[in-house]
Amino acid sequence: MAEKATAPRHIAIIMDGNGRWAKKRMLPRSAGHKAGLDTFVDISDACNDMGIEYLTVYAFSTENWNRSPEEVSALMELMSRGIVKYEPEMVKRNVKLKLLGDLDRFEPVYREALLGVEERLSVNTGMTLCICLSYGGRQEIVHAVNKLLKEGKTEITAEDISNSLYSAGVPDPDLVIRTSGECRISNFLLWQSAYAEYYFTDVLWPDFDKKELVKAIESYSKRERRYGR
Ligand code: FPP
Repeated sequence: MAEKATAPRHIAIIMDGNGRWAKKRMLPRSAGHKAGLDTFVDISDACNDMGIEYLTVYAFSTENWNRSPEEVSALMELMSRGIVKYEPEMVKRNVKLKLLGDLDRFEPVYREALLGVEERLSVNTGMTLCICLSYGGRQEIVHAVNKLLKEGKTEITAEDISNSLYSAGVPDPDLVIRTSGECRISNFLLWQSAYAEYYFTDVLWPDFDKKELVKAIESYSKRERRYGR
């Protein structure tokens, strides 16, 4: 039996196109990432205002470590400072923060700053904002399986894996949005997106606004979800 989709409980976003946005304006890539950070804050606030329970964003993938050292360190600084600066607003909005990924690869100064924000916001009870940092879907599954093996498990269920992912406790995404015209999933929430609805738009991430978010949600709401039935 197909089910008519209602409002998504969990939206996940691949924020793509910062570099192309900057190039179109003859600006350095860093300007695109800065504009992307502003959009992230606006969209997070918009999701919160709309009563979305979970928002997950793909901020830095395991593959992104292969970018130039200058871009990687600029991104680290921008993201860490951005999250620290956004903390008071998240406190005001009762947002809970969850960091998904291999933070051990981060420089200690950034890692500690980020974990501090996550810890302080852990008492909040409103929207859960998951930020994927140094994140890869395959690595996350491998990490989960190794964790289970270390715990002594000899037979593993799907539920065991779900409960051992970085996203443990977070329901699977209903709607996955990717901006900038690329129609691929790029190692994002591979396990969790098994039954997600996808929405691809040509809009570059820094140009994605509340109007575009509403369009994505409206498209989702018109779909029938079959879950393979
Ligand atoms: C992809 O665009 C974007 C990134 C790799 C970085 C995303 C980061 C932000 C939007 C900042 C958000 C910050 C926080 C704290 C969540 P791209 O560089 O691959 O663009 P291109 O494909 O046009 O080159």
